[in-house]
Amino acid sequence: MVTIKFNSLIILAISATLLLRISTATAQLSTNHYSTSCPRALFTIKAAVLKAVAKERRMAASLLRLHFHDCFVNGCDASVLLDDTSSFTGEKTAGPNNNSLRGFDLIDSIKSDLESLCPGIVSCADILAVAARDSVAAVGGPFWAVPLGRRDSTTASLDAANTDIPSPVMDLPDLISAFSNKGFSAKDMVALSGAHTIGQARCTVFRDRVYNETNIDTSFARTRQTNCPRNSGSGDNNLAPLDLKSPTFFDNSYYKNLVNKKGLLHSDQVLYNGGSTDSLIESYSKNPEAFNDDFVAAMIKMGDISPLTGSNGEVRKNCRRVN
Ligand code: HEM
Ligand SMILES: *[C@@H]1O[C@H](CO)[C@@H](O)[C@H](O)[C@H]1NC(C)=O
Ligand SMILES: *[C@@H]1O[C@H](CO)[C@@H](O)[C@H](O)[C@H]1NC(C)=O
Repeated sequence: MVTIKFNSLIILAISATLLLRISTATAQLSTNHYSTSCPRALFTIKAAVLKAVAKERRMAASLLRLHFHDCFVNGCDASVLLDDTSSFTGEKTAGPNNNSLRGFDLIDSIKSDLESLCPGIVSCADILAVAARDSVAAVGGPFWAVPLGRRDSTTASLDAANTDIPSPVMDLPDLISAFSNKGFSAKDMVALSGAHTIGQARCTVFRDRVYNETNIDTSFARTRQTNCPRNSGSGDNNLAPLDLKSPTFFDNSYYKNLVNKKGLLHSDQVLYNGGSTDSLIESYSKNPEAFNDDFVAAMIKMGDISPLTGSNGEVRKNCRRVN
């Protein structure tokens, strides 16, 4: 009896510590931000994501990437969603985004549902964060409570999109500094890169890797060459899965691929190329739980990059333009 009580006390103490850590992890955002102002918001987003992913599994990847490209450019403020106009330049034509980002129509449709449900309440930046989480869970990844309460920007930065989003030709030191510029450790960077367990990339971003690099499995390189012609111009937009094993499942096979020299992007394989991150790659390749835990922690951290809160920014009515 005494033992049972003692154990429950320990469990209580542990839960209290965990709760405290979760609630202080993000100073201004809160997981219950919409629980009175729009109680059905999260369900509405999840239902739309599940429906879209059931129709096309890749949409999960595209939504996850949208949140990343939003957060790395002046914070998670939905700047990535703003359309160009004659008097406004957004981020959609930036190198990493042009002809590459997807999912804008789905975000519009979710936003329009939410505007009918609770006009002017749910920000586009929060929609991106929740849709990313629901996407990961929809394809077999972990689920987590998303801190909410971000507001939307009235500006965007093409220049920051071109400089702050890491490039697939970067070597390890540049990747480490691109993430460290946003407050992330090398470990966070390696865990977040596991997002490449889902989705597709265009020939133009992996051509040099499959024709010119040596730290690549030769039969894998040959397979990828068949749908990616050597000369640029032809087949630039042909797609290949970032994770050859299970491109529509969120698992740790991305790391297993790297150990086998089957990373698709140069920036993937440099994480396992005799450098400081090798041991972490090996550990995630063997331990999916460790990967999931670190991925979730890093996603929450990414969602907390410079949010607009309080009276800063606005809640856009249409994610494509400022009010
Ligand atoms: C480590 C630095 C990173 C680099 C250099 C990088 C680069 C790329 C590139 C070049 C593509 C293919 C784009 C195309 O072909 O048009 C891609 C796709 C993707 N990236 Fe990353 N990425 C990085 C980190 C991340 C992170 C942190 C996430 C999310 C947490 C992410 C999520 C994705 C997803 C899900 C796709 C597939 C999208 C789709 O199929 O629509 N990436 N990435
Ligand atoms: C974006 O892609 C289009 C082709 O869809 C191209 O015409 C345009 O020049 C690209 N813009 C930039 C800034 O690279
Ligand atoms: C590979 O390297 C050669 C020599 O440096 C270069 O000419 C070529 O453009 C590179 N890319 C491909 C896809 O062959």
